Amino acid sequence: MDIVLYKKSFIDELGRADSIDAISHLEVTYLGRNGTINDVLKGMKALSIEEKKIAGKDINAFKIFVAGEIQKAKTILYQKEEDTILIDVTLPPPLDKPGTLHPITLAVNEITAIFNKIGFIRMSYPEVDWEHYAFEVLNMPKTHAARDDFETTFLSGSPDIEKGKMVLTPHTSNGQVREMERLKSTPPIRMINIGKCYRPNWDATHTPMFHQFEGLCVDKNITIANLKGTLDYFVKSYFGEFAKARLRPHHFQFTEPSFEVDITCTMCKGTAVVDGKKCKICKSGWLELGGTGMVHPNVLIAGGIDPLVYSGWAFGFGIERVNMMKYGIDDIRNYYTGDIRFLNLF
Ligand code: DAH
Repeated sequence: MDIVLYKKSFIDELGRADSIDAISHLEVTYLGRNGTINDVLKGMKALSIEEKKIAGKDINAFKIFVAGEIQKAKTILYQKEEDTILIDVTLPPPLDKPGTLHPITLAVNEITAIFNKIGFIRMSYPEVDWEHYAFEVLNMPKTHAARDDFETTFLSGSPDIEKGKMVLTPHTSNGQVREMERLKSTPPIRMINIGKCYRPNWDATHTPMFHQFEGLCVDKNITIANLKGTLDYFVKSYFGEFAKARLRPHHFQFTEPSFEVDITCTMCKGTAVVDGKKCKICKSGWLELGGTGMVHPNVLIAGGIDPLVYSGWAFGFGIERVNMMKYGIDDIRNYYTGDIRFLNLF
């Protein structure tokens, strides 16, 4: 009987046992009732008393050695397991990334600040308004075809005798006469009305809900020169020093004369050329911004203001549209799908 051989194979097996389960299995194999050590003890029956004494000592020492080694291995493995499970609750938590405002909120704040600087007051007029303010007072009487251009959503319910049906306002121009009324028809008026508008379209440049900012300036001696100066100030402040505004003749019911405003293309900076090729975004060096013009006398009259004494201008631009131009975003739907990868850009 050679304990040395048993010891060697125990040490080998112990070296391979890398889990609590494996150690427990080894424990049963060596120290269990039918384990190796008991087997060896049983085999001693045939020995003489002298031999038994010597062998008994060796086996006992081996048994103590095995039990000790198994205990040590278990302690180490249990400690390892604890280290991975234990959480130090006194440690500060991992830092959460701070949230940010939505890009449209950021744009609204920026545009508000730009107009505040030149004395315009931010207003918010109803998203759900009467036909009266959305059309009637804007020189679009009931049966006028121009109303169709706005693809308006009407609310069910019986119409008001004077103000007509309720609509989801298709533009922020509904704030013009409301502002004149708020100021009791007494200019000067310098308003920037920012709000949500609704038209039933969904594609790369339209969402059913979008935002506009509406400028309105009414006072004595207000001319197109003031309008042009204000637009140049806005485009330089919002897009950068390179940007200029240009007016193109157009038609709106609520302005006369009316214009569309173009701004220097933000991609090619007005050169119409990018990398030796024609600019794909604008093709001409200019991008269309929105509508503007001198407030129609009928609109001033609807607001109780005498058009022979006062004159004014107005404009209406899309918030999403100017933001897309500024950052080169080609699909408006990005603003409303809630994709965190897009929102993280701002
Ligand atoms: N309300 C027009 C629209 O949504 C935009 C507009 C054009 C507003 C000319 C104005 C203006 O104030 O003068 O299409």
